Amino acid sequence: MDRMKDKVVLVFGAGSVGPGWGNGKAAAVAYAREGGKVVCVDVNHEAARNTLEVIESESGEGLALVADVTKSQEIASVIEATMQRFGRIDVLHNNVGINAPGGAAEATEESWRRVMDVNLTSAFLTCKAVLPIMERQGGGAIINISSLAAIRWTGYPYVSYYASKAALNHFTRAIAVEYAAKGIRANAILPGVMDTPHIQKQISGYYGTADEMKAKRDALSPMKRQGDGWDIAWASVFLASDEAKYITGIELPVDGGLHVTVSGSLG
Ligand SMILES: NC(=O)c1ccc[n+]([C@@H]2O[C@H](COP(=O)([O-])OP(=O)(O)OC[C@H]3O[C@@H](n4cnc5c(N)ncnc54)[C@H](O)[C@@H]3O)[C@@H](O)[C@H]2O)c1
Repeated sequence: MDRMKDKVVLVFGAGSVGPGWGNGKAAAVAYAREGGKVVCVDVNHEAARNTLEVIESESGEGLALVADVTKSQEIASVIEATMQRFGRIDVLHNNVGINAPGGAAEATEESWRRVMDVNLTSAFLTCKAVLPIMERQGGGAIINISSLAAIRWTGYPYVSYYASKAALNHFTRAIAVEYAAKGIRANAILPGVMDTPHIQKQISGYYGTADEMKAKRDALSPMKRQGDGWDIAWASVFLASDEAKYITGIELPVDGGLHVTVSGSLG
């Protein structure tokens, strides 16, 4: 119950795009259940509020703030509000990520740039803002939510997603090494097939029905079922907590073993 006690956690993308538990919402609530003070940031104010309401209903503490992760000024305002209220930032959790369809010949230049901006530049901007604070404090932990798509073809033609998540992995490793001696750890989590509102909304178009999508995704996993937001949440709590104090620069698949298989294609 107290693995995050006295820690201030900043979660970008702490809401959920639909009812239920997305990865970001579950992570924010899990950090709070372990005693962390959680700043829930989302481009959608209602989504951030909803997550904070869950936290407060369980006697947790936090803030709900609005910001678009692609905008450095909005990130700066979030950092300022967090420092004013809590005076420190121990954990930075970057959850925001989007997909856009298309292989290299089909994807539009606009969609490529947008995906890079939301999935990759966002993490650069939040890290740029938070790292000096963690350095002054003498430590911190960064969790970047990547994807199994960073290291595998997952069956969908979405080249910008693959490229952005692969770059996010190495961005994470670079920070891990550069800041290791300063007490700051950085790790990436690679979700596999997770049953979240994000998936229902973003890629259900690849299937006839939601049931068909679920059946295919369940079958793909060696465990014969998808994971959920809580699998990502608890992996995040572990990597952010002092239990993982000697772990940095890793990419942790949370995928029921999917990354080990050779037939990982949803297409
Ligand atoms: N569900 C899966 O199967 C799966 C698999 C691999 C990776 N992932 C990764 O997990 C993450 C998504 O997890 P989720 O379930 O919480 O998704 P989600 O789509 O529910 O997103 C969480 C929140 O991010 C917010 N958001 C979107 N754009 C934003 C922006 N520009 N600025 C600030 N907030 C913004 C949304 O409003 C939403 O409330 C992504 O990084 C995704 O690539 C998911």
